[in-house]
Amino acid sequence: MNVVESARAFSDALEDARRTGGCIGFVPTMGALHGGHRSLIERAVRECDLAAVSIFVNPLQFDRADDLERYPRQLATDLELCADLGVDVVFAPEVSELYPDWPQPPVTRVTVGPEAAAWEGAERPGHFEGVTTVVAKLFALVGRCRAYFGEKDFQQLVVIRRMVRDLGFPVELVACPTVREPSGLALSSRNGRLDAGQRAAARVLSRALATGARMINEGQRDPAKVSDAVGKVVASEPSALLRYAAVVDAETLSVPELLGTRPVRILVAAEVGGVHLIDNCDPSVFAHEFAAEEPACNVA
Ligand code: PAJ
Repeated sequence: MNVVESARAFSDALEDARRTGGCIGFVPTMGALHGGHRSLIERAVRECDLAAVSIFVNPLQFDRADDLERYPRQLATDLELCADLGVDVVFAPEVSELYPDWPQPPVTRVTVGPEAAAWEGAERPGHFEGVTTVVAKLFALVGRCRAYFGEKDFQQLVVIRRMVRDLGFPVELVACPTVREPSGLALSSRNGRLDAGQRAAARVLSRALATGARMINEGQRDPAKVSDAVGKVVASEPSALLRYAAVVDAETLSVPELLGTRPVRILVAAEVGGVHLIDNCDPSVFAHEFAAEEPACNVA
């Protein structure tokens, strides 16, 4: 496995595959790799001639200094996992490699579309601009590729899809389903900051989604009724602070007037123990095993 730190070396490492027309599978990450990342990397290795992973905690997409500081970093373990999974190239640059003037952010940035305004965009000002700017830089280095993204960050996926279309990157996006613990909790690098009680409380997100999915599957057509119910399930957990709950059009992320005409997604976000957690589901396929009507776990 080739581990490179410079942008030039990363691009060069992919040159052979590019020249011979091989399919490059690219998985951008911020490291602290878990089963969710693993599922993306496994697919890239399986489906492409060459698999490349980037590991970069992108300071431009953090709106809170403490969140950036506390973001887990474990490069040695991550590299071991990548090697085990058969990754060909890992790009693990220093901040100065991608942002030479840091802490001054680059003056040229990718402005995001209306899909980025609400939900996470409203919660975390500047977040998506940071994401699209770094992903655009990475796409420019990789060139023609299939890029694997998780549905766990559904809004991110929609925003990047829009960027690829608008700017014409030669990139085929591959959306991969959210990997969950058996309890329903979506895997996330931030889960490591939760203690056992908070972790149990965090399960309320997937339970809330299941409640919303059930309502839609039973014929509820008013998105506000569904999002209210999802929010109430989250609010029933004393250590979870609801940030938003919404039923949105899966393509535009706006709230439809009536459900049942176009594909939708249920989005939910909450703070648990000061950690911002997000989750979402496609109500037409969401697994019902997370719908258990158990009482909310009280860690008080
Ligand atoms: P990061 O949070 O490390 O996630 C990297 C990729 O893994 C993203 O596409 C994310 O959606 C996916 N992922 C995370 N948890 C997942 C889960 N439980 N199931 C399936 N996929 C999951 O997302 C980022 O990094 C950054 O914003 C990045 C795109 C790398 C730009 O900096």
